[in-house]
Amino acid sequence: MAGAVPEKASHGHWSSRYAFMLAAVGSAVGLGNIWKFPYEAGQGGGGAFVLIYLAFVFLIGTPVLVAELSLGRRGQLSPIGSMTKIAEAEGRSRLWSLIGWSGVVGGFLVLSFYSVIGGWTFAYVIEAATGNLHGITADGAGALFTSLLNDETKMLFGHALFMGVTIFIVAGGVEGGLEKAVVYLMPALFLLLIFMVIYSALTGDFGRTLSFLFAPDFTKINRDVALQAMGQSFFSLSLALGSIMTYGSYLTKDVKIGPSAVTIASADTGVAILAGLAIFPIVFAYGIEPGSGPGLIFASLPIAFGQMPFGDFVGTIFFALLAVAAITSAISLLEPTVSYVCEQVNHSREVVTVYVGGAIFALGLVSALSQGDSGIASFKIGGLDFLSALDFLTNNIMMPLGGLFIALFVGWFVSRKSMLDELAMEEKWFRVWYFLIRFVSPVAIGFVFYDILFG
Ligand code: PHE
Repeated sequence: MAGAVPEKASHGHWSSRYAFMLAAVGSAVGLGNIWKFPYEAGQGGGGAFVLIYLAFVFLIGTPVLVAELSLGRRGQLSPIGSMTKIAEAEGRSRLWSLIGWSGVVGGFLVLSFYSVIGGWTFAYVIEAATGNLHGITADGAGALFTSLLNDETKMLFGHALFMGVTIFIVAGGVEGGLEKAVVYLMPALFLLLIFMVIYSALTGDFGRTLSFLFAPDFTKINRDVALQAMGQSFFSLSLALGSIMTYGSYLTKDVKIGPSAVTIASADTGVAILAGLAIFPIVFAYGIEPGSGPGLIFASLPIAFGQMPFGDFVGTIFFALLAVAAITSAISLLEPTVSYVCEQVNHSREVVTVYVGGAIFALGLVSALSQGDSGIASFKIGGLDFLSALDFLTNNIMMPLGGLFIALFVGWFVSRKSMLDELAMEEKWFRVWYFLIRFVSPVAIGFVFYDILFG
């Protein structure tokens, strides 16, 4: 489908609802679930974070997911194109296209550092495959991670490889590239994660994990935890970065958006919880600090792989699947910019993908070098290294604001009739969704946001 077909006139569509679901779950399930969720839960005191997170996912995230898919399908264009078109059709200001812009630019920024972390997973595939995790101790695992951050060659190689694969898949188009990649890999990841949970439960401290994750300590709930949980719920559901809107634009009319969104959100949340259940038993058994931050899975899981029978093999597969989960998210981050640029210029999809991906790679180099102790690492923005600063800007500012404006637009500026028509839901479910998107989402996001800015 790529190349010969002028992208402006038509683009691909998902070949089936199943393919769409896999792609959307593939976008949602990624480093956010397996790498980020456990360490954020660890930093946010466990159960308190998990509880707020669940509330955000189902009361705010899922309604916004429905809204974003509907906007994409209604617009049938890139996020910028779709938002402009719908705003015009509804007789609203073209300024609403800023939602599309923020999504496309945000996706571009996120991918630049997401790819760096994706590169770490590749590096760990090699560490596991070459036996470097064999018999590793807790200290050894921590040291291995730090040495990776300081190894510029490995960091750059991992980032380059990760972006290369992402570009290759996206260049292949919706059916030829995106779909083919997700059909086998997502189920494989899921099975392996369940295996890891069972292994950790049997060998690690499962009892403590359960109380840590599911018995909330309400004194730990504060503004920062709420903000972090909100940002994470948006990030994990791939919201407000153009990805879901773009995937919505490849959706055919017969797919029911409401039930699909609930399934996507449930699968995404299930994987995050499984990741927590796989990781924390090891964390507690080996006295690793649960709040130790971004290195958490890299410092904990290798210990398990180092000790279990066939650990080199299992570890290799695990990190490979994590890399795959990251890739299926990365393609959804690259796609919005590619679809927008394809609308604007007369080049083939392949050429556009290479240029856009190359630019993202270049920006990512700064994030990659910001992690060790090179010169770039001493450059701080508000006390944060470049990668963390980009993460903060996108996760805690652009995504919640994007979500807020999506909710406001769909709830108050698009006619009820248009939405009812797009969603084709039973009236009673439509009412629930409409209430959530008009009142609950904007008020909740607004509150958390107000608190950050003026609290
Ligand atoms: N949801 C992905 C993850 O959890 C990240 C992502 C965010 C992908 C936004 C696309 C858009 O890893």
